[in-house]
Amino acid sequence: MSGQPRNGLNSLFSGPGGVISCPEFANARETGRMLKLKDPSLLKTSNYINGEWLPGGAGVVDVSNPANGEIVASIANGNAADAERAVEAAAEAFRSWSRMPAKQRAVLLRNWFNLLMANADDLGAIMTAEQGKPLFESVGEVAYGASFIEYYAEESKRAVGATIPTVANDRRLQTYKQPVGVVGCITPWNFPNAMIARKAGPALGAGCTIVIKPATETPLSALSMCELADRAGIPKGVINVVVGADSSGIGQVLTQHPKIGKFTFTGSTRVGKILMQQCAEGVKKISLELGGNAPFIVFDDADIDAAVSDCMATKFRNCGQTCVCTNRIFVQSGVADEFTSKLQAAIEALNVGDGFDDAVTTGPLVSETAVGEMVDFMADAESKGAKVETGGGKHALGNCFFEPTLVTNVSQDMRIATEEIFGPIAAVQTFDTEDEAIERANDTEYGLAAYYATRDVGRVMRVAERLEYGIVCSNSGVFSTEVAPFGGWKQSGIGSEGGSEGMAEFYETKFHSMGGIES
Ligand code: SIN
Repeated sequence: MSGQPRNGLNSLFSGPGGVISCPEFANARETGRMLKLKDPSLLKTSNYINGEWLPGGAGVVDVSNPANGEIVASIANGNAADAERAVEAAAEAFRSWSRMPAKQRAVLLRNWFNLLMANADDLGAIMTAEQGKPLFESVGEVAYGASFIEYYAEESKRAVGATIPTVANDRRLQTYKQPVGVVGCITPWNFPNAMIARKAGPALGAGCTIVIKPATETPLSALSMCELADRAGIPKGVINVVVGADSSGIGQVLTQHPKIGKFTFTGSTRVGKILMQQCAEGVKKISLELGGNAPFIVFDDADIDAAVSDCMATKFRNCGQTCVCTNRIFVQSGVADEFTSKLQAAIEALNVGDGFDDAVTTGPLVSETAVGEMVDFMADAESKGAKVETGGGKHALGNCFFEPTLVTNVSQDMRIATEEIFGPIAAVQTFDTEDEAIERANDTEYGLAAYYATRDVGRVMRVAERLEYGIVCSNSGVFSTEVAPFGGWKQSGIGSEGGSEGMAEFYETKFHSMGGIES
């Protein structure tokens, strides 16, 4: 990998058309009520149920821009009754959608993909306004999300069953794959578009219908996707979105309603466990994509410049707010000084600010509560001997901003070593041997993603085999793609999203034993 040009954060997303850039937004600093869209009708504020835009049962709730606190929109505040209505609509739509020939469903999904891509600039702007990430990341995420719709449009045509060699001459044995039914789905604020697409794509492709509760902080991206699904010709009731602040009331309907066949969630391990318990009552099929505590191991034979760039990409993507962001950086003693000083220089080169500013690489955190968590993490680490090399506190920009931070002398008793940071704090520890690095990397209840840098091919293989993670990524800081499975081991989740594995989550297998056949 050495010698390749690397531009860290700017290489995070390559959609179907390559790396996305959006120069036309270079001067688009106005947000809030002034949010400028090429197509303003994409900014929707109501529930989307049975193909209709409906008010919420609990009035309205504001969505604000974390960069400046401005109100972006007042949206419907949906409640449990709205969720029930949406489940009923999805159950009704399931009758025809599940029986529509897969080829026809594929055409509609492909239409949706085309519209998502054609409107990527507007969808990106809506996302930056409600979530804060830099516009290049938002537009990149729209392409990443759309890639799941494109992939599962194709995959929907491949729901092939099996013919099994018979055990008796008068019998024939076959399996069918059939859609699991209505899918309940709760999605997070860190990827307001892609986490919906990664669930809705395979669900719809398999013949399921869906009810989505997007994060309270980021409903606008979800609603704009519905508007485009409607324009794509996806029939009413196939996709439903209930927005608002009552995540718990709506969540209870989506996990427990008798007409829900499957529930899927991306979010924290703590909330995932609660939802899993709720699903147990009805023995719902579930997929959970939960928290992580990703190690990034730098061996002394690594290309250090490349490792720094890769580490930056995985640590500071989305301001450190992804489940697969590096949480613990382990550096072999011999290269610790070189790696750490280069990492510090890269961190100090980050440009923090409003995501609509073209020069900005690092936006705000999602909320002031999240900033408070960073402050608490730092207080704990410093009280236990961590050394702050750069950053370490609230950013002068105020609001939801926190300084990109590098800490060394990190030890296992610190919260930043055991808990998911979900923010821009890079925490470096050192190690001496390969065995030690693997043991410490595996010493966590999480098992989502792990990264390592080495130029030794044997080590590339050995370490991949021994890391207890659903995703291992060598010599890169970026792996996300629609064509491969994304899922965690241990308390990082159940099931996979992406690839053919992601589609399998939305099928039931039916075994047909045919008797009475003359041989
Ligand atoms: C996540 O944080 O869960 C999603 C990250 C990705 O899809 O790359």
